[in-house]
Amino acid sequence: MKILLLGKDGQVGWELQRSLAPLGQVVALNARSEAFCGDLANLEGLAKTVASIAPDVIVNAAAYTAVDKAESEPERAHLINAQAVEVLARAAKACGALLVHYSTDYVFPGSGVTAWREDLAVAPLNVYGQSKLAGEQAIQASGCAYLILRTSWVYAARGSNFARTMLRLAAERDSLAVIDDQVGAPTGADLIADVTAHAVRAVRSNSELCGLYHLAAAGETTWCGYARYVLEQAAELGVELKVRAEQVKALTTDAYPTPAKRPANSRLDIQKLQRAFELSLPDWHQGVARMLVEIQGK
Ligand SMILES: NC(=O)c1ccc[n+]([C@@H]2O[C@H](COP(=O)([O-])OP(=O)(O)OC[C@H]3O[C@@H](n4cnc5c(N)ncnc54)[C@H](OP(=O)(O)O)[C@@H]3O)[C@@H](O)[C@H]2O)c1
Repeated sequence: MKILLLGKDGQVGWELQRSLAPLGQVVALNARSEAFCGDLANLEGLAKTVASIAPDVIVNAAAYTAVDKAESEPERAHLINAQAVEVLARAAKACGALLVHYSTDYVFPGSGVTAWREDLAVAPLNVYGQSKLAGEQAIQASGCAYLILRTSWVYAARGSNFARTMLRLAAERDSLAVIDDQVGAPTGADLIADVTAHAVRAVRSNSELCGLYHLAAAGETTWCGYARYVLEQAAELGVELKVRAEQVKALTTDAYPTPAKRPANSRLDIQKLQRAFELSLPDWHQGVARMLVEIQGK
């Protein structure tokens, strides 16, 4: 199997380099790759890349993910998250490749308290969510074989992430306040990559499994609950912090204005994916605890 991986150095892309490797030959590109164009802003180059590699599977882990910046750069967000995705979908259709693509709970309006199912109505609150939704729709309109995996609150041991930011701030500052009225599930890039590899194999032997799925860790928390758990675990690992878990103050979204509006309810219903691929996704605490051990190098 020949796999074209785009966005190889992002949180999910990095883990995909590992999880896809046993499936076959992986051609992994980023925006700066030279042998083939891996820049999603270069639509012509991207189409040429797919045509010349002629992959069996395209996995697109590249995206414009700067949620707040997207409010002032809507064209750029749309170019990377929608137009480039449309080019990939058309190219996948032309060469008969399976297209694997990631989307987000930000396609939903964030109302209510129940977990979003795949068949519920979308209504993004911000430019990033709109651009990601347009990408999904382009894939669905193209007629290519696809797996769209909507995920949420992605973290990884590598690079900058919420957990790392909390550790830094708790070591530097005397107090910490974190939003406590947005609910979701922190989801590890490693879990996303492992499930992707499993799903690719399953879809290759049963094309009826193609489609749109929600992929997130089980359970739920708020950003504040997440921060407290990170500090609690870090303290157990012996990390010296000025702020203890129980001292993290709860903030409301209104008290922390950002350029992009964010959904209060980021819960994703993962039943469809678990049933289709015979998986049981672990509770979010498990992956976060593991990442913290990895970050501390213990
Ligand atoms: N992060 C989250 O919390 C979250 C939540 C829900 C869904 N998702 C979705 O999950 C997927 C993976 O996200 P992630 O967390 O792994 O994001 P990430 O760490 O920000 O990685 C995205 C990658 O895309 C690359 N990229 C940006 N512009 C590009 C271009 N023009 N050409 C090629 N590559 C480009 C970035 O490279 P540079 O760093 O060099 O720009 C980066 O390596 C995305 O589809 C995202 O929308 C993420």
